[in-house]
Amino acid sequence: MIQDRKFPEGFLWGAATCAYQIEGSPLADNAEPSIWDRFTHTPGWIASGDTGDMGSDHYRRFREDVELMAQLGLQAYRFSIPWSRIIMGGHGIINTLGLDVYQHLIDALMEKGIKPVVTLYHWDLPAALQDRGGWLNPDSPQWFADYAEVLFQALDDRVGHWITFSSPWSIAAQGHLEGTLAPGHRDLYEAPRVAHNLLLAHARAVDVYRSIGKQSIGLAVDLEPQHPASRSDEDKAAAIRRDAYVNRWFLDPLLLGHYPEELISAFGAAWPEIDPADLERIRTKTDFIGVNYYSRGLVRADPNAKPFGASRIRMPGSFDSEMGWEIYPQGLIEALVWFKDRYGRIPLFITENGAAFTNTPPVEGEVEDPERIGFLRSHLRAARRAIAAGADLRGYFVWSLLDGFEWTQGYSKHFGLIRVDPDDQSRTPKTSARFYSEVIRSNGENL
Ligand code: NOJ
Repeated sequence: MIQDRKFPEGFLWGAATCAYQIEGSPLADNAEPSIWDRFTHTPGWIASGDTGDMGSDHYRRFREDVELMAQLGLQAYRFSIPWSRIIMGGHGIINTLGLDVYQHLIDALMEKGIKPVVTLYHWDLPAALQDRGGWLNPDSPQWFADYAEVLFQALDDRVGHWITFSSPWSIAAQGHLEGTLAPGHRDLYEAPRVAHNLLLAHARAVDVYRSIGKQSIGLAVDLEPQHPASRSDEDKAAAIRRDAYVNRWFLDPLLLGHYPEELISAFGAAWPEIDPADLERIRTKTDFIGVNYYSRGLVRADPNAKPFGASRIRMPGSFDSEMGWEIYPQGLIEALVWFKDRYGRIPLFITENGAAFTNTPPVEGEVEDPERIGFLRSHLRAARRAIAAGADLRGYFVWSLLDGFEWTQGYSKHFGLIRVDPDDQSRTPKTSARFYSEVIRSNGENL
């Protein structure tokens, strides 16, 4: 079975970041505030009071970072572009100063032979559009498609893959139902409407792309297998409901043309009337799916947890990352094989996979992170097994290239292959970066 031990020829190896988490300088070069600028500057949302004002200073140091990527041997770099840097007021006039920065970043990547993979939206809606209702506004899909068109026109010839939305579930569920991400709403009525507009926005952007784009476009979703915490029928049913919520909310309409029944009944009267023509518009509009994988969910029936009656609990005695998430590589095989069985053999990229572990300052220039090496090794082996089981996996991106701002947890969680010093933002590649370099060089044969 030697073949099972190899990643396919041309497998794309990269690392990923998100603008608000690493760029800093959020208002430089005529950029306007996003909902994340607003959220972090509103006392109470971020426990530590941290903001993305400094980030990892990537906006000013991107040339140095591209140099580090080249030393690592990265073949691709996935990054996001903030809408609020590109379009004034979110809709209308282009901010050429902002757009130029991404032209320069892409120039620098191309010079090193690193393929740009661009996320159009990683959670940072222009605040001006939030003031017009944000993703609840029926015009929001068109605003997004117009913004996307600007980037396609300017950058498509050099961008290998486009990702419209990163984790749309987080935007709808955590931003509008659970209230743990910007704009911090807790509203049963809002979340399904936001989700539907995100899907329409994705579909419209893909329609625009079809008339301009030469490369490929997709969507990145979080997949988290949901396991019942016990053998009871109640827990089993709760796990199925939570699976509909976290795994199928976006993929079912996109790839099967309908929303999961479990969602419609859980939202009840808050579920919107959906025009069947919308579902036709959304269906199969993608060239690939990006999968963000971190852990599994262990689910207990919980009538108090509205609206799904399901709570995620901790696995007693599990080995967890700094986030408190169980390290569970088997779940990556499960997720990829589940995807293929449910939706068919659609090209997949792992667009995020990684873990936060305690940050230690360099000792004689070295930052040792053996836990991250173990995490990457076990998950890459799982990816390889999923390929052997028939998943059409085309590439893998570590989350993340750099330590950065972990949303409501501020700078307290460290996902980077490269350490960023909290005081002076100097960079030190960790030992996991060296390990990953060797993975890339050998196309995964060192695992
Ligand atoms: C997924 C999100 O896309 C990313 O922004 C975040 O840092 C990671 N999850 C880890 O929480």
